[in-house]
Amino acid sequence: MLYLQYNTLTLLLLWLFVSSTYANDEFARTRLNPTDVTFLLYSRDNSYTEVSPESVDASLVEKGVKTYFVIDGLYSNRTTLMAKTVTDDLITLPNCNVIMVDWAPLSGYLAFRPSMNDLELRGLYNNVTTYVPAIAQKIVNLIESLKTKKSIPLSQVHVIGFSLGAQIGAVVGSEIRKKDKEEVGRISGLDPASFNYQEENVTADNRLDVTDAAFVDIYHTNRLCDHRFSWKIWNLAFKNDIKGCPCKVEASESDSICTNLNNTSCTSPVRIGMFMSTKTVGNFFVGYKNTTGLVA
Ligand SMILES: *[C@@H]1O[C@H](CO)[C@@H](O)[C@H](O)[C@H]1NC(C)=O
Ligand SMILES: *[C@@H]1O[C@H](CO)[C@@H](O)[C@H](O)[C@H]1NC(C)=O
Ligand SMILES: *[C@@H]1O[C@H](CO)[C@@H](O)[C@H](O)[C@H]1NC(C)=O
Ligand SMILES: *[C@@H]1O[C@H](CO)[C@@H](O)[C@H](O)[C@H]1NC(C)=O
Ligand SMILES: *[C@@H]1O[C@H](CO)[C@@H](O)[C@H](O)[C@H]1NC(C)=O
Ligand SMILES: *[C@@H]1O[C@H](CO)[C@@H](O)[C@H](O)[C@H]1NC(C)=O
Repeated sequence: MLYLQYNTLTLLLLWLFVSSTYANDEFARTRLNPTDVTFLLYSRDNSYTEVSPESVDASLVEKGVKTYFVIDGLYSNRTTLMAKTVTDDLITLPNCNVIMVDWAPLSGYLAFRPSMNDLELRGLYNNVTTYVPAIAQKIVNLIESLKTKKSIPLSQVHVIGFSLGAQIGAVVGSEIRKKDKEEVGRISGLDPASFNYQEENVTADNRLDVTDAAFVDIYHTNRLCDHRFSWKIWNLAFKNDIKGCPCKVEASESDSICTNLNNTSCTSPVRIGMFMSTKTVGNFFVGYKNTTGLVA
């Protein structure tokens, strides 16, 4: 039997969705324990050392080079798949720093039980989201330390976040912009968490938007496929030249689906993912045929 699973992905640049939001910021400015957020500086051989704002000077962080932050989402830890897959790709690149953000003590994976009902899962999720600003602050502190002690310009910082990790990246971006009057180079949001992050529920500072970095690229999966497909396509596009086709979406509907689904041929395709041009602006669609062997 011939089995072709057809997955689709819309790739949207968020500038279309920027709109004014009113302040309804219920997020607590929570104090964290020192071990709640750990930064793992990865080497080419896949080993890592921990780094903190205080230890930057003596660390293996390379001066002045491109620096990537990888932030996985809900229930994540240093071994979960998005964190590992994206990190594994990045460490193949020369002359850069790759830092995985491990926020496991707060990510909910310790409290998660398969027996939890929807209400309990919602409660756990809400609890986890209250830590987002404080986690972001830790990352901001490290970025500031890298800037002063290792001469890493903000423009060289690229944050890659999945789901809730993308919303952590959003807060990092807006905090840096406020503090330094300058943006980080790039934030890539892989299916940013939407629950609790709708425009009416949170201020722009607390959700990913176009002002959070010099270049913001957002990957939404549609409802036909897996949330995780966002980082799987990122991983695929890291290794393959995957093209997106320009498409139209309703600006008012952040989860609207492009009208040319299944149309993989277009006149002006753009490369998507890590190596896309940072001059790219617009909304793009990727139709992907799931044939075996392409996705790990
Ligand atoms: C990470 O979480 C997974 C479950 O999602 C668990 O199996 C694994 O042991 C955890 N790893 C660490 C280092 O905590
Ligand atoms: C919220 O999370 C913290 C730590 O992750 C835990 O100590 C606390 O019990 C949680 N509260 C609720 C209401 O789930
Ligand atoms: C978003 O805000 C609206 C209006 O305040 C509220 O009714 C709704 O429950 C909120 N949704 C979430 C997911 O927090
Ligand atoms: C795309 O094509 C597949 C296979 O032909 C079909 O099953 C699917 O419904 C199509 N999706 C849309 C949104 O048209
Ligand atoms: C596919 O998209 C291109 C442009 O994006 C358009 O010109 C073409 O008509 C579309 N084809 C179909 C079959 O919808
Ligand atoms: C592709 O299909 C295989 C087999 O059905 C499945 O295990 C895998 O998760 C799919 N990959 C994606 C990205 O959907």
